[in-house]
Amino acid sequence: MKTSVTIENVKVICFSPTGTTKKIAKAIAKGIKFKRTEIIDISKPEARKSTPRISNKDLLIVAIPVYMGRLPSFVKEWLQTIEGCNTPAVCIVMYGNRAFDNALLELRDTLKNRGCIPFAGAAFVGEHSFSSDEYPSSVGRPDHEDINKAELFGNSIFKKLSSIISHDDLSDVKVPGIFPYGGTTELWKVDFIGVNDNCHHCGICAENCPTGAINFKNSSQIDIQKCILCCACIKNCPHKAKSMKPGLMKEAAVRCSNFITRKEPEIFLT
Ligand SMILES: Cc1cc2nc3c(=O)[nH]c(=O)nc-3n(C[C@H](O)[C@H](O)[C@H](O)COP(=O)(O)O)c2cc1C
Repeated sequence: MKTSVTIENVKVICFSPTGTTKKIAKAIAKGIKFKRTEIIDISKPEARKSTPRISNKDLLIVAIPVYMGRLPSFVKEWLQTIEGCNTPAVCIVMYGNRAFDNALLELRDTLKNRGCIPFAGAAFVGEHSFSSDEYPSSVGRPDHEDINKAELFGNSIFKKLSSIISHDDLSDVKVPGIFPYGGTTELWKVDFIGVNDNCHHCGICAENCPTGAINFKNSSQIDIQKCILCCACIKNCPHKAKSMKPGLMKEAAVRCSNFITRKEPEIFLT
């Protein structure tokens, strides 16, 4: 016999060093009208010290940026500590207008393996982490259109969950991607951040670093073994004191800025 379960809470997990993933995750959550919504931002190291409890009365939304066509490996490791119990889940990946490759499939499979039912998914476009005035890339995304689409997607999720009798009526969503996922999750270990005289070592970049790679007292000191190339330090600096030095990363930023044809959000719902 089917057991009916009422969803009460929406738990939104997001990793978002430069803020675009969080914007979309919040817009999707806005379109969903269950009793409570909790945003669990795991961008800072302290936030990843514990894992939230998930029940079958929760709807889980997990939103992660695409790094080299995959999920960032340490975020995937953290996701593997989630204990779902037939928890309906929505998988969201955010990418910088190049491609999301196998990241959405990887997220769907990860949540399924953790006891969730990933019945919906989407790929949205955000301003590229490497974007700068010199080499702009998907600047201003997500924009109003993206945010509207995200809220409408939230409405569809709410309607779907309100129309089912039991979680057994949900099935795994089909998303693009190939298994084995291929590519690499190994990020370059490069010293690429240049610091100019505007830097007063205010510590804002260190505070915003998702891996604690920057010395609070001397922001020029960056541990490249910990750095994940997210560019949050560059984008969050109020004094424009940080930028990319010439080298591998700047060359990558140039390549990314060549993907100028606007890509639209892609939505998948069973
Ligand atoms: C190391 C790294 C690798 C990335 N790889 C890709 C990629 O493969 N495809 C793509 O379109 N965007 C890629 N991006 C861009 C981000 O996915 C995109 O800018 C996203 O919106 C960043 O999310 P956030 O603002 O929440 O940090 C990459 C960014 C970083 C830092």
